[in-house]
Amino acid sequence: MLAKWAALCGSIVPLLTAQAPSGLRTEYLSDPVGIDVQQPRFAWVLQHAARGERQTAYQILVSLKPEATTGNQWDSGKVSSSQSVQVAYAGQPLASAQTYYWKVRYWDSGDHASPYSDVARFETGLLSTAGWKAQWIGGANQMRKEFTLPGRPVRARAYVAGLGYYELRVNGHKVGDHMLDPAWTTYDKRVLYTVYDITERLRPGANAIGVMLGEGWFKSRALRMQIHAELENGQTVDAATDASWKTMPGPIQSDSVYNGEAYDARRETPGWDRADFDDAHWKAADLIDGPKGVLSAQMMPPIRVVDTIVPAKLTTPRPGVYIYDLGQNISGVVEMRVRGPRGTRVQLRHAELLYDDGTLNVENLRAAKATDVYILRGDGSLEIYQPRFTYHGFRYVELTGYPGAPKFDTLRGKVVHSDVRPTGGFTSSKQILNQIQRNIVWGIQDNLHSVPTDCNQRDERMGWMADAHLYAETAMLNFDMAAFYTNFLRDIHDVQGADGTVTDTVPHRGGSRPADPAWGMAYPLLTWYMYEYYGDRRILEQHFDGVKAWTDYLRTRSRDGILDYSYYGDWVPIEKTPGNLVSTVSYYWSADLVSRMAEVLGKPADAETYRKLADAIKDAFNAKFLNANTSLYGTGTQTAQILPLFLNMVPGNRRGGVSAALRDDLVYTRNTHLTTGILGTKYLFPLLTDTGNSDLAYELATQTTYPSWGYMVENGATTLWELWQNKTGPSMNSHNHPMFGSLGAWFYNALAGINLDAAKPGFERVTIAPQVVRDLKWAEGSLETIRGTVASSWTRSDDGLRLEVTIPVGSQAAVHIPELGLAPLTLSESGHAIWKDGKYQSGPPGITNARESDGALVVEIGSGKYAFALARE
Ligand code: BGC
Repeated sequence: MLAKWAALCGSIVPLLTAQAPSGLRTEYLSDPVGIDVQQPRFAWVLQHAARGERQTAYQILVSLKPEATTGNQWDSGKVSSSQSVQVAYAGQPLASAQTYYWKVRYWDSGDHASPYSDVARFETGLLSTAGWKAQWIGGANQMRKEFTLPGRPVRARAYVAGLGYYELRVNGHKVGDHMLDPAWTTYDKRVLYTVYDITERLRPGANAIGVMLGEGWFKSRALRMQIHAELENGQTVDAATDASWKTMPGPIQSDSVYNGEAYDARRETPGWDRADFDDAHWKAADLIDGPKGVLSAQMMPPIRVVDTIVPAKLTTPRPGVYIYDLGQNISGVVEMRVRGPRGTRVQLRHAELLYDDGTLNVENLRAAKATDVYILRGDGSLEIYQPRFTYHGFRYVELTGYPGAPKFDTLRGKVVHSDVRPTGGFTSSKQILNQIQRNIVWGIQDNLHSVPTDCNQRDERMGWMADAHLYAETAMLNFDMAAFYTNFLRDIHDVQGADGTVTDTVPHRGGSRPADPAWGMAYPLLTWYMYEYYGDRRILEQHFDGVKAWTDYLRTRSRDGILDYSYYGDWVPIEKTPGNLVSTVSYYWSADLVSRMAEVLGKPADAETYRKLADAIKDAFNAKFLNANTSLYGTGTQTAQILPLFLNMVPGNRRGGVSAALRDDLVYTRNTHLTTGILGTKYLFPLLTDTGNSDLAYELATQTTYPSWGYMVENGATTLWELWQNKTGPSMNSHNHPMFGSLGAWFYNALAGINLDAAKPGFERVTIAPQVVRDLKWAEGSLETIRGTVASSWTRSDDGLRLEVTIPVGSQAAVHIPELGLAPLTLSESGHAIWKDGKYQSGPPGITNARESDGALVVEIGSGKYAFALARE
C-alpha cells in the first residue's frame, strides 16, 4: 500500500521522513510585534510521515536577516533534546525595537534531519525604561501631533500606552484592529503598551497622528506614546508625547464601560487626524503624572471585532420602538446605518432579556445603562456608527429615535472579545450536549476581555477569581489561552500584598482583600494549569514565591488546621455548604499545590514542608468535618462530599462510604440532580468518572429539568446562566456567567476521552480514555495542543467500537479501550489484529504494547493517526 502510494507520488512526497516543523511560536504568540522578555521561549510543532516518531535533536537559527540563513544572533547548533516547546532563546542579548527572524529544524529517531521550517519572527518592544522618551499627557479626548519626515520611511513603529482606551489614527486612518486596548491592569503597578508597524501609513513630508481616548477602567484619560521612523536616507525621526501635542474634545460626549457611549457627529473635526489641519484653536496638552505603573508590552491576543452577526428578528412592540434579536447573547456593540436630519438623536439600548410584551428588560443590568446614543451629522450621506470605548453583553437591542423605518440590515452585531485562537472542538451524537457545548464556548469567549470576567452585561464584568479558575480548564481545551493566562497571572501577582494576600477580583475593583480562600485558589490553580497544559515551568518559577506567600497568609488565618473565614464558599448552590469546610479544603489544596510545584522545581525542603502542612490540614479537616457514624462530611451536602473525595482527603476506609452517600443523594434523594454551587459542580464530574460512575455523570450532564444545563437550554439560553434558577428581575441573575462552564472540560476528558498527564505536562504524554456511556452513540474531540493535534473520535455499533486517535510527533499515549462486555474479543488497528486470544499481537507501526486492565484494553502508542476496531471474536 505504501509502496503504491510512493510510486504514485514519485519523488514529490518524501516518504516516512521528518518534515519541516510548523506552527512556530514565540512566547506563545505567532510572529509577535512588541515583546519585552529577555529570553523568549520558542515552540514548534513537529511533523513526520511515520508513526511513533519523535525529536532527538534540534537546531535553531536566529538572525537579523529575514532569510535567517545564518544564526547571526543565535545558532543553537545541533542540540540533543526532545524539547520542542519552551525552548529559551540563548543568543546575543536582545536589543530594543529590533526584529528577529528564526527558524528551526529537527532530527528524528533515525537521526535524519528535517528541512528547516518557514521563517518566523518576533520583534522586541522597549526593553528598558530609558527607551521611553515620551511623557504622559492629558487633556480632552482627542490629541494630535504633526511631524515631518525628510525622506521615505522604510521602517516605522508606534509605541502606544493610551488610558483608559485609545484609538490610534495616522494620516486619516485607524491603525491596527485592536479595540478596547490596552488590556485592563492595575495601572499603578503596570500599564501595557502596544507596538504597531506604521511604515505603510507614513510618507515623506508632513504626517499627522491623532489619538482618541476613552475612560475605560482608568476612569480618566492619559496618553504616552512615541513614534520611531527610519528613513531611506539613514536618518531617524522620533515623535513622542509632550507639551507640544494639541488637544480638543471630539464627537464622543461621554463613554463608560457600563453605561455606553454618546457620540455627537456634529462635533466631529474633519481632517484632525491628517496633516495640514488648522489646530490653532486647539489647546496644548497637559503634562501629567500619569499612572505609577511600569510600562510592559502587551503580549496576548488583543480584544477586537471577531465576528459580525446579522440579526435574526426585528419586531416593533410599540410605535417607534424597534427590537432587534441577534439570536445569540454576545459581547460587543452594534454597527448602525442611518441617514436623516442633522441633530436627530438615535438611541440604542442593549439587554439580555425581553418582557412578555416584547419590550426590553434591563432589570438585571442593575446600574449599567448599556445605552449608546448617536446624534446625526445630517449632511445627506449615509452615517455609520459603531461605538469605540464601551461594550455590552446582549442579545437584544432596542432602537429608538430612528429617522424613518429601520430595516433588518440597519444594525449588525459586532462580537468583541480577546481574540484567543479556537483550538478545540467537541461534538457527539447527543444533541443536548452539543447545545450545551455551544453555550459554554459562547459564554467563555464573551467573557474574555483582557481578563477573564464573571459576566459581560451588568455593573460588574470583573476578574472574579473563582469564576476565573473554574472555567479555565474548559477555556484551555477550547482556545489557546497560554498568553492570556500568562498575563492574568502577572495581574494576580500585581495585586498581591506584602502580607501575601490576593483579592477577590483582579484587578481589584470589587470584593475583598484578602480574597475568599476559594477565590484566591485562582493563584495556585492557574499557575498549575499553565504547567499542566503548556508545560510552562517558567510560570512555576515566577509565581512559586507568590503562591507560597498566599498559602502562608492562609496559614496565619487558620487555627489548628481549620480555616474559618469565608465569604462566598460554594457560591450559588441549591444547598449551601458550610463556608469553613470550603475554606479549609482550599487551604489544603493551596498547600498541596505548593508542595507539588516545589517538587517540579527541585526544592525538596519546600516540597516536604508543604506536604506535611497539607497532611496536617487534612487530618484536622477529617477530625472536624467527617461524621464517623454517617460517613458524611459537614451538613451532608453534595459539595461537602465532592471536595474531599476529589482531592483524595478522605481516609481510605471511609472513601467507599462517602462515595456511596454522595451517589445516594444524587440519584435517590435528588432524583438524579445536583445541588452543588460553582465549586462542587466543577469537581463532581471528574470525580464520578474517576470512580467508575460516568453513566451517572452523563445523566446529570444531559438532564433537562431543573437544576441542569439542559434546563437552561430548554429555556432558550444561548450562554450559561449565573443561577440554576430561571430568574429575571432587578438583581443577581446574569444570563451570561461562564463559571458553570467547568462541565465543558469533562466533555473532552471523559466523553472524547482526551486527558493530559501531569507527569509529562504539555501533552507530552496523553491518556485517551473515552467513556462509552448510556445512549451515547459517538463522540469526538480534538485539540490543538502546544505539541500539535490530539484527537479522539469513537463510534459504537451493536457488536463493537471504532476509535480513531491522533497523537502529535514527540508524544505518547495510553489508549484505554473499554471492552464493553464483549467476550471473546479482538482488537485491530487499520485492519491488523493487535489483541487476539487474550494476548497482544505486535505488528502495526507506532504500537508498542497492549494489555488488559480493569475491563479495558490499554494500548501504548506513539505519534500518528490510528484507527482501532474492537469486535466480538
Ligand atoms: C459575581 C461572581 C462572583 C461573586 C462573588 C458576583 O457578583 O458576579 O460571579 O464570583 O459575586 O460573590
